Amino acid sequence: MNNIKVRLAKNKKELMMVFKIRKIVFIKEQNVSKNIERDEFDKTAKHFALYYKNRPVGCARIRFINRKAKLERIAVLKEYRGKGFGKIIVDYLIKYCKKKKMKKIFMNAQYYLKDYYKKLGFKPKGIIFEEAGIKHIKMYFGNK
Ligand SMILES: CC(C)(COP(=O)(O)OP(=O)(O)OC[C@H]1O[C@@H](n2cnc3c(N)ncnc32)[C@H](O)[C@@H]1OP(=O)(O)O)[C@@H](O)C(=O)NCCC(=O)NCCS
Repeated sequence: MNNIKVRLAKNKKELMMVFKIRKIVFIKEQNVSKNIERDEFDKTAKHFALYYKNRPVGCARIRFINRKAKLERIAVLKEYRGKGFGKIIVDYLIKYCKKKKMKKIFMNAQYYLKDYYKKLGFKPKGIIFEEAGIKHIKMYFGNK
């Protein structure tokens, strides 16, 4: 665990690392259009990277909408999956949001990950919908 760190991206170089992971995972692997993947919210969101042995291998962003936090763009490079890195990122984001006293923490989860996020404390709410050509469902952290 000493080899793993999650950090807020603080400069352009760190932000570029985040965008690179997103490009590999969402654009190349999941075929999301690059016009959708990068959006206007990138300017104002908080971006995070997970480093394994000083190599950035995972990322996420948080959008703050009033007192609500929306977790987005959670990704781990394929070759580093299944090691608990996704959980470490999500736990870190939740802690960060709680520290910022957010009233709600939610996400539009990819539907195939519904059970995965359930294990991390999220509950699905509402109907399945499509975003970027992928099935999604809204999920809220805790009992909200
Ligand atoms: C989602 C993602 C970030 C998870 O990262 P990860 O580092 O592999 O996740 P973890 O190692 O923390 O979790 C793996 C665990 O989840 C389980 N899991 C994986 N996919 C699952 C699924 N679809 N449903 C339920 N459990 C699942 C694994 O079996 C494993 O369980 P275990 O801990 O009991 O062995 C990664 O798969 C990813 O980048 N996917 C592509 C991008 C994406 O879809 N992002 C989500 C946008 S909402």
